[in-house]
Amino acid sequence: MTREQTVHPSGAIVRIRPLAELTTLRVGGPAEVWEVDDLAAAREAASEPFLALGAGSNLLVSDAGVNERVVKLGRGFDDGRAFGAEADVWLGAATPLPGLVRRAREAGLSGLEPLLGIPAALGGAIAMNAGTRHGEMSDTLQEVDILVNGNVERLPADALGLAYRRSSLPKGGLLLRARLALTPSTPERVAAAMAPVDAARQGQPKATSAGCAFKNPEGDSAGRIIDAAGLKGLRVGDAMVSHEHANFIVNLGAATAADVEALLKEIQERVGQPLEVEWQRWGV
Ligand code: FAD
Ligand code: EPU
Repeated sequence: MTREQTVHPSGAIVRIRPLAELTTLRVGGPAEVWEVDDLAAAREAASEPFLALGAGSNLLVSDAGVNERVVKLGRGFDDGRAFGAEADVWLGAATPLPGLVRRAREAGLSGLEPLLGIPAALGGAIAMNAGTRHGEMSDTLQEVDILVNGNVERLPADALGLAYRRSSLPKGGLLLRARLALTPSTPERVAAAMAPVDAARQGQPKATSAGCAFKNPEGDSAGRIIDAAGLKGLRVGDAMVSHEHANFIVNLGAATAADVEALLKEIQERVGQPLEVEWQRWGV
């Protein structure tokens, strides 16, 4: 297999790619990436051990890459353009969350306001139960279609174990589609509900990152703790604790996964209390 793409008989497009190209932190070595646009291709791609990739915004991938194939849902699972003014709606798991949040505001549909500014695909937002202190993905999620062992299963949201930044999806499951229930409101009310979410995000860096590195401990904020330990600006190679928000590690340009891992370890040692990494780590 080369970097040249091949088209598998199932229709999947297969290519070796550095995962740095497909993750927001821009680190990570090569993987065989299967891009799939329909169920037949998804079934074939998921017939061997695989890792599901959304928008790559919560991932730390090792410099050596991963041995499993990586499955990325393509345009066939992106319903962003089709999404109109339906309050009860099925959407493909590749649908980008930012566009969904914007369209819901324009259509005057309430429920997604807390997710403003999260650069996920719908499947990744469900798998991580993405959210803010204003609310989370599980607030609107009703049910999903998930590919497990070659079969599409329809599961209610409460079977997915969604909690603070986690889920317990069936092992080897690939989320394909999800049904959300939004509440009819007005564009003005939805925009007003988004204002505090937007304000809370203003202190976050725009630089290359994967969002918050650590989960917040109960009743506290990892950002506050790391800041109080005086670690803003702490740097290993091109990985640095952001000066703007201490729970963001930014890639100044040429950071490697090894740099980021070393920085995570250094932070954990220096804060003097356990902090759990929020990112999913692949291949480390
Ligand atoms: P990925 O990072 O691609 O994958 C994350 C996990 O989901 C992996 O385990 C992956 O295997 C799994 N997954 C992805 N797609 C599927 C699928 N179809 N089926 C099964 N499993 C799947 N997060 C928050 O919660 N709140 C925030 O406020 C927030 N702000 C952020 C700001 C910035 C600037 C950035 C870069 C990130 C931020 N994040 C935030 C983190 C991140 O956006 C979320 O965790 C998001 O849910 C990840 O979605 P993704 O599509 O990028 O998933
Ligand atoms: N703080 C500091 N120094 C810092 C950063 C924060 O003192 O460098 C303090 C703030 O002043 C504030 C408190 O810590 O008093 C909380 O900070 P903030 O409001 O920025 O929220 P957070 O707890 O750091 C959480 C989520 C974010 C989400 C925001 C907005 C986690 C780990 N983080 O951040 O989610 O966007 O709230 O709701 O739950 C993510 O998960 O990737 C993420 C970015």
